[in-house]
Amino acid sequence: MRTLDYADGVITMIDQTALPEQETWLEIATVEDLVGAIKRLSVRGAPALGVAGAYGVVIAARAHSPVDEPDAFDTAINRIRSARPTAVNLGYAVDRVAPIARAHGLEAAEVEAHRIRDEELASSIAMGDNGADLIAELVGGDAVRAMTICNTGGLAAVERGTALAVVQTLHERGQLTEAIPLETRPLLQGGRLTTWELQRMGAPFRLIVDSAGPFLLSRDAADVVLIGADRIAANGDTANKIGSFSLALAAAHANVPFIVVAPESTIDMGTPSGEGIEIEDRGVAEVAGVRDFSWTPANIDTINPAFDVTPASLITAIVTDTRVVRVGEGEAL
Ligand code: MRU
Repeated sequence: MRTLDYADGVITMIDQTALPEQETWLEIATVEDLVGAIKRLSVRGAPALGVAGAYGVVIAARAHSPVDEPDAFDTAINRIRSARPTAVNLGYAVDRVAPIARAHGLEAAEVEAHRIRDEELASSIAMGDNGADLIAELVGGDAVRAMTICNTGGLAAVERGTALAVVQTLHERGQLTEAIPLETRPLLQGGRLTTWELQRMGAPFRLIVDSAGPFLLSRDAADVVLIGADRIAANGDTANKIGSFSLALAAAHANVPFIVVAPESTIDMGTPSGEGIEIEDRGVAEVAGVRDFSWTPANIDTINPAFDVTPASLITAIVTDTRVVRVGEGEAL
């Protein structure tokens, strides 16, 4: 299922905040609406943010000609670029399309944005194959129990996904015993979105609460941990959904392979290590309650990092669309 696309000045995307209760499609034709959709997580997941950002530049160029209104165009694309700070794909895609819009105009920008979308689609298929092949090598092939966090499926990457693409490929090859998604507090991307995608693909799974993950790894409940990434630093340190680092520590303790699955576009060679990755703090409301309901006393403070950073030393391998890099064994990106 294609979860985001563009035609004639309009981005069409499934509203991820409404799932799984409702399958609502949004039509976005302004930069303001796109920035709002990104901030409230109607579109989320690093590769999907990249594709949305690429089409966002096209929408910006339609509203403000980069030649006739360069300042207005730059302001618009900077708003898109900074809507969420951690996923590198957003800035990467904006920075690819914007110079083409400036130099060659709207049609060329559209072509480049479509190219980014098509690259992500092809990447998802390749990551699925590369990841499933690696798992066959590491844990033997035909009865894999895969633990995963957040949502890394087609919702997060337009089609198929990253870590969940590997789960899907294992399932299609008849090698998946079960997926074990973590619910992923505070916004429940695992409980709401990954369960919805696993059900649609007909894959067996059992949902767990986040704090059960490390314990279940210590009790031999999974053969592999698969996560996506929002930004991979040059040394392999990986920013991903909060809770990934705890899983990596527990996987190392239990001697379970911990595999990061991400397209090449998520690797940020300009950031030397995880210390340089900006981590978004999403504020009080998500920790203090859900939607309009709050379970805390009024006026409390929270710490709400949306992501954490797993050091490369805890990562068995990074699987991309083109390669497998065993960073835990000292291989370099
Ligand atoms: O805050 P989110 O839902 O955008 O976080 C997404 C993740 O952490 C994903 O694991 C990551 O973007 C990789 S998705 C293919």
